[in-house]
Amino acid sequence: MKRLFGTTREDLSAVAEILRSGDVVALPTETVYGLACLALDATAVAKVFATKKRPAEDPLIVHVEDASQAARVCETDERFAKLAEGFWPGPLTLVLPKRPCVPESVTAGLPTVAVRSPGHAVFGEVLRLVGEPLAAPSANLFGKVSPTRAEHVTESFGPEHPPVVDGGPTDIGIESTVLDLSAGKPRILRPGPISRSAIEETLGEKVCDGEKADGEPEAPGQKSPGLLPGHYRPKAPLRIFPDEEAMAEFLKASEDLPTGTVVLFHGRDDRSPDDLREVRSFFLSEQGSPREIARNLYARLREADASDTVLIVTHLCEETGIGRAVNDRLRRASEGN
Ligand code: TXA
Ligand code: MG
Repeated sequence: MKRLFGTTREDLSAVAEILRSGDVVALPTETVYGLACLALDATAVAKVFATKKRPAEDPLIVHVEDASQAARVCETDERFAKLAEGFWPGPLTLVLPKRPCVPESVTAGLPTVAVRSPGHAVFGEVLRLVGEPLAAPSANLFGKVSPTRAEHVTESFGPEHPPVVDGGPTDIGIESTVLDLSAGKPRILRPGPISRSAIEETLGEKVCDGEKADGEPEAPGQKSPGLLPGHYRPKAPLRIFPDEEAMAEFLKASEDLPTGTVVLFHGRDDRSPDDLREVRSFFLSEQGSPREIARNLYARLREADASDTVLIVTHLCEETGIGRAVNDRLRRASEGN
């Protein structure tokens, strides 16, 4: 069986056939690679869960061509219309009441379904060729770092990997913003490339961001079942510092960092001690730009996480825009260390 596909018309037609027959295919999106299948076919959906070793409690995102296809799987409203108009196709996932055609397994038994229209020409073309909504979680084993290149998918699943369409490195590099529109005030369940302020501007109203109305932080996983601490975790422990200064202080004071330590600097000109002898280092970005840090983060984490790595050290971004989403992923990746 052919397992690696390019983006020619013939290849995408072949891939659409595989999907229509009820099998799974890894496809590029603008955020990360997704493991796609027919969203309304419970048998195909079961294959995705099995391939990822994903627990049944963790619901999938349904990918659609546009707002009218979304209306086939969820009950849309005025907020939905504004946000789809403003941000689709793009990295914004909306949670709305589900329609009966969506299998229970897709939504992990919830009365709601998450929908998004991906902003990637290849995924868009496959959606058009298949003519049906496609469920797609990130194309990695459950809990691991999400794939931003085709080779990350093949590495994740080994020689028996599912068919993959190689669309090159993804542009954004971290997963979509997940926004719950199903209950009262809109609430961000997963920070991502579309910021709270951009959503508020489009909606013309306030949006909650990981907090209950009384300002208490919401318990992780409470509303978005898959969002557990300890997600996106590399094999080696990840230690994060609040900022560049704190990390530089730590490196200066730690002459005896263990062999096999990797430091992820944000920019090429970041402060660092002169002699980090036993330490390998990578740059997340040339200039320390948050967009570029997001784009490179998962690939660098994978490179840093080589077999001899015993510790990965980095620091947080400023807590604004996409930096907030990068920090969310870094905190989860370092959970328990
Ligand atoms: O950028 C993305 O969103 C990527 C690409 C492939 O589209 N997909 C992705 O899927 O990150 P996944 O399965 O790794 O994450 C989906 C998130 C999970 O945290 C899940 O809990 C949440 O969406 N989710 C899905 N359905 C939900 C629902 N009905 N209510 C609340 N959260 C939901
Ligand atoms: Mg995932």
